[in-house]
Amino acid sequence: MSTSYPSGPPCAQRGGHGHPGLIHRFLDRLPFEADDPIVTLMEGSTPLVHAQWLSERVGAQVYLKIEGANPTGSFKDRGMCCAVTQAVKEGSEAVICASTGNTAASAAAYAARAGLRGAVIVPDGKIATGKLAQALMHGARVIALRGNFDEALELVRELTDKHPIALVNSVNPYRIAGQKTAGFELVEELGQIDALCIPVGNAGNITAYWEGFQEAGVAPRLFGFQAAGAAPLVSGLRVEKPETVASAIRIGNPARWEEAMTAMTQSNGRISAVTDEEILDAYRLLAAMEGVFCEPASAASVAGLLKFGADGAETVACVLTGHGLKDPQTALEQTGSVLPCEPNLSAVEKAVLG
Ligand code: F0G
Repeated sequence: MSTSYPSGPPCAQRGGHGHPGLIHRFLDRLPFEADDPIVTLMEGSTPLVHAQWLSERVGAQVYLKIEGANPTGSFKDRGMCCAVTQAVKEGSEAVICASTGNTAASAAAYAARAGLRGAVIVPDGKIATGKLAQALMHGARVIALRGNFDEALELVRELTDKHPIALVNSVNPYRIAGQKTAGFELVEELGQIDALCIPVGNAGNITAYWEGFQEAGVAPRLFGFQAAGAAPLVSGLRVEKPETVASAIRIGNPARWEEAMTAMTQSNGRISAVTDEEILDAYRLLAAMEGVFCEPASAASVAGLLKFGADGAETVACVLTGHGLKDPQTALEQTGSVLPCEPNLSAVEKAVLG
């Protein structure tokens, strides 16, 4: 039995659950056609939450773009649905990426969805537990490199030059195409937006937002933030041994270095460093004051806003790139301990009421 649909795919892919997947939602602005073999997990259309406490602190209207609400818990899904769709279109049988964790989790999920083999190369011991669990659960081949992200990326680039495996890092233009849709969403929801605060690692996301904003005809100032121990775009020098608690942005030689600097200059923005301590402060404050749990790297955007201020911007969006549950270990190290309690009322009363 066959059913025909007026413009392509079945309704489950088109918004049976309230919103369409990202490619269908923005089909007219992406390099795909409705009858392409679109791979989706209904990514995109993430919540934009007004941040009351933060707004008061910095004297601007601050909004949080909760990218951790994407299907695998990070913004990577926006680019990955496009990169994997293109891989399927081109007849690839396998995808690969180097990753600090989130790209790996996303690539593994979309590869599983598309029936492709997936391999991910991650820095040994330097990826958050949740991300590792995701990549493994989705059936990717997980390779723990005795080296850092920058070395892993160099190696997968060499490998994919030699073998017919689709490279799904953000050097892949389809990743950028997908990720720019977050810029479209912000413009649709906010209309006026004066500044964007965003964490920067490999610099694909800031590149994508700038593309999206330009296509939408707006030009907010881009405030990019790197961790102080991994801030090559701030110093202008490649960092050989990047270090930070924000493992997702532990990157010393960003692939989209030049594009990020162009975005910065054109938007009259800046790129600054925040220390691990500042990142962790923002991480705890977001959870405690705004009820939003993001991962440490994501909190760099808010750490930067708290440190440097809104600089005259009235409407500010902070991109919270990944969910807090990705990295439970760091969360537990940052919090108080649980209260042990005997199973009787007086003990419970004492524990609850203090
Ligand atoms: N925030 C999170 C949670 C990330 O995972 C990343 C990058 C970034 C910010 C920075 O984005 O690289 O486009 O500047 N994670 C990559 C990965 C490197 O492998 O998951 P970027």
